[in-house]
Amino acid sequence: MERHIEIFLKRLSYVAILIGTVTFVFLLLKIPDTCVAPGSPPKPHLRFPKSSCDASPRLILPLHKKNKRLWSTKTWQNKVHSFSNFFRAFYQMGLLHNESKVLCASAGAGHEVMALTQLGVADVTGIELLESPPLVSRADPHNLPYFDNVFDLGFSAHFAEALFPNRFAAEMERTVKAGGVCVVVVDECGDEEIREIVDLFRNSRFLGALNVTLTGLRMTRIIMKVKRLP
Ligand SMILES: *[C@@H]1O[C@H](CO)[C@@H](O)[C@H](O)[C@H]1NC(C)=O
Ligand SMILES: *[C@@H]1O[C@H](CO)[C@@H](O)[C@H](O)[C@H]1NC(C)=O
Repeated sequence: MERHIEIFLKRLSYVAILIGTVTFVFLLLKIPDTCVAPGSPPKPHLRFPKSSCDASPRLILPLHKKNKRLWSTKTWQNKVHSFSNFFRAFYQMGLLHNESKVLCASAGAGHEVMALTQLGVADVTGIELLESPPLVSRADPHNLPYFDNVFDLGFSAHFAEALFPNRFAAEMERTVKAGGVCVVVVDECGDEEIREIVDLFRNSRFLGALNVTLTGLRMTRIIMKVKRLP
């Protein structure tokens, strides 16, 4: 009786080994669907990086295509249009000319840079902590990589978000020429807040403030004229 069971179990294991081997050989011979026949062009999803140096993301859009896509969106165009209207007023006030050198600090993706360029200003510099070429290059608004007295107009629509408003203002004043203007746009505010902001620009004289609508938001535009150095 015991021997009977033993023989049965042995046969059972032979059968199991046989099934295992056949399956193994079958898997070995069968070409997986994802395999690429030699000589066929590689499919994009099958190109694996050879090393960590080769692991850059694929299907990245060339910059000009990415920009073309971004700049053709309605949102982008509306914002640029809004900035154009905003800056047109500066031509009328005699504070901006096509020959002016303009700095846009904390320019984000560069709407204002494009608006100024389209208006005909030849020399516009846009800077932001994160660059957006070709409109905006990388620089810290708290530590501008420019000489003193370079720009005719310094502008920022993001002054209120500055980490160190004191430093931001001082750098703008330093790089804008004596007689030039610093312009900041902040969320719509009253006289007290305006005075607080103007006080940060220690070497400038308050020229005027106006409530404006910019990119659909109610904002207050503050203009200051940089004093001549004593
Ligand atoms: C500035 O340049 C633009 C484009 O070249 C031109 O259309 C415009 O008339 C110029 N504006 C002034 C005030 O010269
Ligand atoms: C702008 O609007 C604010 C409140 O919305 C008001 O207090 C302020 O006087 C206005 N400023 C100007 C210059 O009109």
